[in-house]
Amino acid sequence: MDFKELVNSRYSVRKYEPRKVEQAKIDYLVECATTYPSGRNGQDAELLVISDDKLVSELKDNLRHHFDASLFFIVSYDIESAPRFGRTDASIMLTYLMLGATSLGLGSCWTASYDENLVKLLLHYPPNKRIEGILVVGYKDSSASPSEFHENRDKTKANIKYNEF
Ligand SMILES: Cc1cc2nc3c(=O)[nH]c(=O)nc-3n(C[C@H](O)[C@H](O)[C@H](O)COP(=O)(O)O)c2cc1C
Repeated sequence: MDFKELVNSRYSVRKYEPRKVEQAKIDYLVECATTYPSGRNGQDAELLVISDDKLVSELKDNLRHHFDASLFFIVSYDIESAPRFGRTDASIMLTYLMLGATSLGLGSCWTASYDENLVKLLLHYPPNKRIEGILVVGYKDSSASPSEFHENRDKTKANIKYNEF
């Protein structure tokens, strides 16, 4: 699959099979996550992988959007030590994870619909950490399909200019 095919085949998946993602695929995604470029090579994004059944269940109880996925990648940064690039680095890591998941035939959805303090409390994050996003990952349910938003790229296209803003 070339890059364009990869990005075209990705969409936010909001329905998953209960089937768990194999550890080898989790390892592959973690490898993908570690290759992202970062501001000043500070590598300020932090990744917490949640795959343990009990933790997955507890986490789902505390997320507004989880779509019954079986695997969660929580990406954070330190607001004290990485105020300049932490957020950007975390977004790039999330993007790498998202496209890595697509390349494995897995579905994913970036979610920002959670009470950050609640998630931090549950997973024992120190106060100086900011959770930039949570990527829910799993095997797509056979009935999963792109939402109407997926095709709605008009604004993105209008935002592209050449040679002059
Ligand atoms: C920063 C960010 C936050 C998002 N938060 C949510 C969310 O909380 N819940 C959700 O269902 N989708 C969320 N999404 C997915 C977007 O709604 C989705 O990417 C967009 O509508 C385009 O659809 P597509 O991903 O299917 O192409 C988020 C995406 C990004 C990049």
